[in-house]
Amino acid sequence: MSDLSSNQLRLLGVAGSNRVMAGELSRIVRRRFDDVRVPVPKKQGPGAISYPFDLRLATSAVTYHRTSARVLWELYRCPGPRLEPLFSQLVGAIGNDDRQWFWSGASFSVQAFAVRDFAAGERQVVGTVKNAVLEAAARKGVTLHVDAQHPDLTIDVRLVDDRVCVALDLAGMPMHRRGYRHASGVAPLREDLAALLVMSARHDSRNEALVDPMAGSGTIGIEAAGLAQARPIWCSGRTPACMSWPTWRDAFEPRPPAVFGDTRPFCLLNESDDASVDIAHRNADTAGVAPSLDIRHGDFRTLEPRDVLDVVQARGFDPKRGLILSNPPYGHRLEDQRGVESLYRALAAWTRSFSGWRAGFLVGNRAFESAMGMRPAITKPLKNGPLDATFYLYEL
Ligand SMILES: C[S@@+](CC[C@H](N)C(=O)[O-])C[C@H]1O[C@@H](n2cnc3c(N)ncnc32)[C@H](O)[C@@H]1O
Repeated sequence: MSDLSSNQLRLLGVAGSNRVMAGELSRIVRRRFDDVRVPVPKKQGPGAISYPFDLRLATSAVTYHRTSARVLWELYRCPGPRLEPLFSQLVGAIGNDDRQWFWSGASFSVQAFAVRDFAAGERQVVGTVKNAVLEAAARKGVTLHVDAQHPDLTIDVRLVDDRVCVALDLAGMPMHRRGYRHASGVAPLREDLAALLVMSARHDSRNEALVDPMAGSGTIGIEAAGLAQARPIWCSGRTPACMSWPTWRDAFEPRPPAVFGDTRPFCLLNESDDASVDIAHRNADTAGVAPSLDIRHGDFRTLEPRDVLDVVQARGFDPKRGLILSNPPYGHRLEDQRGVESLYRALAAWTRSFSGWRAGFLVGNRAFESAMGMRPAITKPLKNGPLDATFYLYEL
């Protein structure tokens, strides 16, 4: 291998997710393998961690990891950000590489991210990497072809600390495309962000019920149930690309089981919008977590806290503790502001009935904190897609 070779497992997530991503992976790997020590990852930015490459870590991440947005096997690191030397550096590095990451007849595509610092445009970066891979493979007597739609291998190129990192995207797609979302509901949370909220709120799924009073299409509850059991993230026949690679096939169980299949989580979800309730049911069925959820239809203001506590107790959980976790409307249109403030005040009053519980909310509206009228134990800025939002966690 040349000195441009790298061998890292990289997990990318939203900014602020590093600690949570590391904790989730460690929990999965420790339960799956008695003999694997999960090293402390290197931080590579606000939403990026890396480990020395290990196949068992990699298969665990790409099968089960909910808080990451992408899982990458980093193969090469070339000096950046100049395009001219990249072709020959990459051809040389691939030529000296004895890892069998491609095979004759394999198709690939290249995608570039965060390459603004290249004087050349993104398309030239993509073209250069494509040509280098084709050339290096040809020199080894291997014929590859480019297929942008259904590639066997998705090559991910991005600039990190002035180095051009060339990696394989193990899933071949963003990890949030798990395959359970039937339609989007009013304003759905991205699945990895919902999982991040559940982990950030430290949901103890063996001992605490989770309640989302404004659940939309149910993403928070579905992710909470999935995390509790560490179920494989993929549904509807979707599988990560690397599961079909000839060199990796044997590393996967054909039907990976839930890692904590003995956990019995419970989430009560409530939503006022008819269509969203319907979508939540279908999403939960497809994700395989419907038995862990109780999905109610109505305004949360008519959902009696006493009744919620009774349901929680009937499901075998201690009603004196639990987690409210929700993503209320942000009320971004000017005409919505008054309505949303009174909604927040009603939410504050409702939430206060759950003494001894914790409550976490992701909101992108500055009026929220004063409407809640309590001091949050944790305040964490998070991006919800393009929107600036804040995660508040309260001890009630
Ligand atoms: C930002 S969305 C939640 C999205 C959800 N986290 C998801 O991933 O689909 C806010 C939700 O609150 C619901 N909502 C608004 N007011 C409500 C109320 N008074 N009672 C119950 N649900 C309400 C809306 O219909 C909407 O689905």
